[in-house]
Amino acid sequence: MKDITRICFVGWGVVGQGLAEILLEQEKELKEKYGFEYKVVAIADKLKGSVYDEKGLDLTKLLKLVKETGKIDTYPGGIKGWDSIQTITESNANLIVEASWTDINTGEPAISHVKSAIGCHKHVVMTNKGPIALAVKELLKMAKKNGVQLRFEGTVLSGTPAINLALKNLAGSKITKFAGIVNGTTNYILTEMEKGLKYQDALKQAQELGYAEADPTADVEGYDALGKVIILANVVLGANLTKNQVLCQGITKITSKDIEDAKQEGKRWKLIAGAELKEDGSIVASVKPLKIPLTHPLASVGGPINALTFTTKYLGDVTIIGPGAGREATGYALLTDILDIHRNLTK
Ligand code: HSE
Repeated sequence: MKDITRICFVGWGVVGQGLAEILLEQEKELKEKYGFEYKVVAIADKLKGSVYDEKGLDLTKLLKLVKETGKIDTYPGGIKGWDSIQTITESNANLIVEASWTDINTGEPAISHVKSAIGCHKHVVMTNKGPIALAVKELLKMAKKNGVQLRFEGTVLSGTPAINLALKNLAGSKITKFAGIVNGTTNYILTEMEKGLKYQDALKQAQELGYAEADPTADVEGYDALGKVIILANVVLGANLTKNQVLCQGITKITSKDIEDAKQEGKRWKLIAGAELKEDGSIVASVKPLKIPLTHPLASVGGPINALTFTTKYLGDVTIIGPGAGREATGYALLTDILDIHRNLTK
């Protein structure tokens, strides 16, 4: 990481490709402004294939190839056919970008990817919520023991600062609570339904725009927001929350009529997620749709935009609003983590 960062992508869908485009677009600026130089040496994707070249791959060519064919294993040159674990462990990459699909129940295959990377002393940046929601403490401990960094800003609010904001900028502020809108897909659907679109059409659009998970059930049933609540509660509030301890309701039961009725009452439905650290040390957490007045600050947060309020002792409420999903916004989250690791290792 100190000289040239050698990057390996594990999972190269919307998010991974989003980061690749940002890296290409800013290559010169990243070097001049931050002294950050990189090459992408490997990509492994379960559906698109894998390719490895220790000297570096041509990212422009790969982006064109994946756009035109949906595959990367027709890339001219390099070693093909390695699976994700072999690519992580045997390539000369020193930074693994874990961007495979999220499974909030098992965390796999991402947990195995992260453990393999840390086990062979490679830094990891990830947007995958599964491993962080299920095993963040174990993984951070393992990373520390192996002298590498594990970063996951993009697991909550994509590239809009949430985890780093709470852990770094608000360090010492005594955060006792957080609440807000943490799922872009459902917020987009609710916003579009209010404009008159049918649920299924709004969901389809959210999928096409790259907001939804590979299986959008996770979004609409609230499990994605649940994962984010667990991550924030465990990382920011120091809890040991598991998914069975959190009340979780999605938006599938909200009908167009419910939305219209709310409008007549001067209200709006939002999927609100949050957790609070009580004085006795217990944690109360939930994900549920709430009908909030139009005057409420969260009522005007529409589309894929997310908002999160941290309640602190010394500052009162601190709110951040910004994109919570999407190709560029989530790709950018990975870049913030990569630059932060680079900064830490070169200072
Ligand atoms: N499916 C997620 C959302 C992506 O809609 O918010 C970002 O975590």
